[in-house]
Amino acid sequence: MEDLLAQKVLITDLSRFRKVIDLRTPEPVGLPSGHISREELKKIPAGGSFEVRDKRYFVLPCDMNDFVMEGLKRNTQIVYPKDSGYILMKLDIFPGKRIAEAGTGSGAMTAVFSRAVGSGGRVYSYEQDIGLINHAVKNLELDAGDTNVIIHHQSLELGIYEQDLDAFFLDVREPWKYLGAVYDCLKPGSHLGILVPTANQVSRVLLAFNNWDFLVTEVAETFLRTYKPVPARLRPMDRMIGHTSYLIFARTMQPDTIRRIAARAVPASEDGDGGLLPENGGPDGA
Ligand SMILES: C[S@@+](CC[C@H](N)C(=O)[O-])C[C@H]1O[C@@H](n2cnc3c(N)ncnc32)[C@H](O)[C@@H]1O
Repeated sequence: MEDLLAQKVLITDLSRFRKVIDLRTPEPVGLPSGHISREELKKIPAGGSFEVRDKRYFVLPCDMNDFVMEGLKRNTQIVYPKDSGYILMKLDIFPGKRIAEAGTGSGAMTAVFSRAVGSGGRVYSYEQDIGLINHAVKNLELDAGDTNVIIHHQSLELGIYEQDLDAFFLDVREPWKYLGAVYDCLKPGSHLGILVPTANQVSRVLLAFNNWDFLVTEVAETFLRTYKPVPARLRPMDRMIGHTSYLIFARTMQPDTIRRIAARAVPASEDGDGGLLPENGGPDGA
């Protein structure tokens, strides 16, 4: 995935304008104040700048945040960097890990995972829509050579090929349907992350967890507030992203560790706790 970013640069005016440019394509680059040819752009060193009609632009190597936010073409909702960074930490992703995700979508999370597991790791990505697979393959340049990403054109309803995975990430509409299949392909003690945009999806996932031996470790939402970097008038940006998604994290436990407790938990009710596992394990703290 190093190569994915190697031929790309970010052009910015350090204000609102940010554009990721692939230096391999021949067309001139459109800017708010005019154009620059690729040949001219290639001559500008990393960290350099240039002017077009009295407006100054800065050139930087494209990093993963730039690529996800500005470079990648979106055909679906994507996982934003404020969430993907936290997901990497919570799923304990590092070089060499074998992990899986569904769905591939535009490939934003796939790119982040691929870079984190490195050349010795693997990212198995499930996607049911062939059009979106073609789109993600282009975004991630998967046809360009060696890659640690394997995309399966398959709905999770038809199963998961891999065994003994280190982590699984679910970003699909109905994740509660696949908890059994995901449990079976993960090592004991490994990590599951689920991303859903609505609170009622979170409730459905939590209820479904009672049928499987996952220990729910966290339900979370992340907020990122950025600031105008003006020392004399330091204040937040006027606009921020208000909501992206809810995140649910769990660990795989030995068979019957959790289901045994869930069977003894309070049954679902309208005004009660909905039959979810109480905090700290079970009714008797087991
Ligand atoms: C929100 S997008 C995923 C975005 C992706 N994580 C990213 O960062 O670009 C959800 C994707 O899940 C796929 N999907 C939904 N249900 C699925 C299933 N049962 N099996 C495989 N893919 C599924 C959809 O086709 C869609 O592309």
